[in-house]
Amino acid sequence: MNFDINKYANEKGLILTEKALRLLNNHNYKQIIETLTKENKTFVKPEDILKIKEITKNKKEYKKNFYILDKYDITNKKFSQGSVEDFQKLFLEKYKTLSEIIKTRPNFDHITISQAKREIKNKTVDVIGMVYDKRFSKNGNLVLTIDDPTDTIKLVLMNKDEKEFLTQKEILLDNVIGFKCNVLSKDMLIVNEILYPDIPFSIKKNTLETDVYLAVIGDIHVGSKNFREKEFSKFIDWLNLKIESDIEIAKQIKYLIIAGDIVDGIGVYPAQFDELFITDIYKQYELLEEYLLKIRKDIEVFIISGNHDAVRLSDPQPAISQDYLKRLYEKENFHILGSPSWAVIENYKVLMYHGASFHGIYAEIKNATMNKPDTAMKEILIRRDLMPQYGLRQTFVPIEKNFLTINEVPDIFITGDVHHHAYSKYKNTHLICASCWQTMTHYQKEIGHVPTLSKVLLLNLKTEKLIIKDFLEE
Ligand SMILES: [Fe+2]
Repeated sequence: MNFDINKYANEKGLILTEKALRLLNNHNYKQIIETLTKENKTFVKPEDILKIKEITKNKKEYKKNFYILDKYDITNKKFSQGSVEDFQKLFLEKYKTLSEIIKTRPNFDHITISQAKREIKNKTVDVIGMVYDKRFSKNGNLVLTIDDPTDTIKLVLMNKDEKEFLTQKEILLDNVIGFKCNVLSKDMLIVNEILYPDIPFSIKKNTLETDVYLAVIGDIHVGSKNFREKEFSKFIDWLNLKIESDIEIAKQIKYLIIAGDIVDGIGVYPAQFDELFITDIYKQYELLEEYLLKIRKDIEVFIISGNHDAVRLSDPQPAISQDYLKRLYEKENFHILGSPSWAVIENYKVLMYHGASFHGIYAEIKNATMNKPDTAMKEILIRRDLMPQYGLRQTFVPIEKNFLTINEVPDIFITGDVHHHAYSKYKNTHLICASCWQTMTHYQKEIGHVPTLSKVLLLNLKTEKLIIKDFLEE
């Protein structure tokens, strides 16, 4: 036995003292020697061994810890008739949710618009309204019309500070915002300060003792001629520990989030048919299942819908139905969800959303661009709303309640859709946008958007550090 241990240690470049060798006897010597190798030791003393034994003894065995926040999943929730009243109800609920967040701000003494209209000239008033109209006066000032459940009023935002005015110009219709004002007249207030609902700095206490990775991918587009089949297969092989490179990280992946557009779909954009390799939607999902069914059983896989998937295009989107993913629905480690969806993974609140409503943000906000999708994600969090402007580049349907306001503060916000990966932090929230597995389409060529391909974004849930594993082959 001693001979085997010594031989094993020497092969790893370690020299054991006699006492150290005795301590290793009857124990899992291979595991201890592996740990010592990582610590760059050459001569191993008894205290080195005792230290590792102590750490191992205190280390609890890792157990996965996650659940889905069903209350925010729209799948199987009641549809409305889509009447004017249903839309009114949706907007009223959005106003209520977001105004309650703004009311918690210090030094904000909220009064209703009808109360503000009764105040005398120059009086300070704090109101919360949904932006109904936005235009510029002859003098270049911004004039907003806002309403709340009690009344409507006009607000003037003076063009005095250029930088501040730039931000104010980016107020979108339908945003719910707090305004600190002075009364100018019965029908008009002058704005001194604007307050978006926004998210606070949330401090999270990390309880993980071992490295656990959450992997993010999206926009696989199986069925397209442009699907990067070889690279995607290589990614699946890596997850299944068949590739040596970074195998220690692959082993620690316990969660995989797929941010929508898992197949290319049929008839999603003009002339898509010419770019399809599989022209039957069921067969596209069948092939997708073949890849995903190979994934290690100890990885929890969350799949949300995207605009190319076989679900309603309008937000919020329900989960892809069992008709298309029969075999994945039978697996316990697969979670097929709508967009948006929420889950709590290792105590982190995770918001998953494909990303369609961001196109309105790219169109209206100067600093938000498709090759930096995290900039749009930040604007969404500031507004606490996945429906920042109704009907702008994306449609919404009223269902039994509003699933698009961001009622809680996410620790991790995950999206896809633009086929361009990004990562940054806003306050303490991780913003992760997935890369894609589809070469540039004709549509992307037309609009001059270059996708980033075949990358896996990996967030270490213990250290909160993000790394990118690249599967791109030229
Ligand atoms: Fe996509």
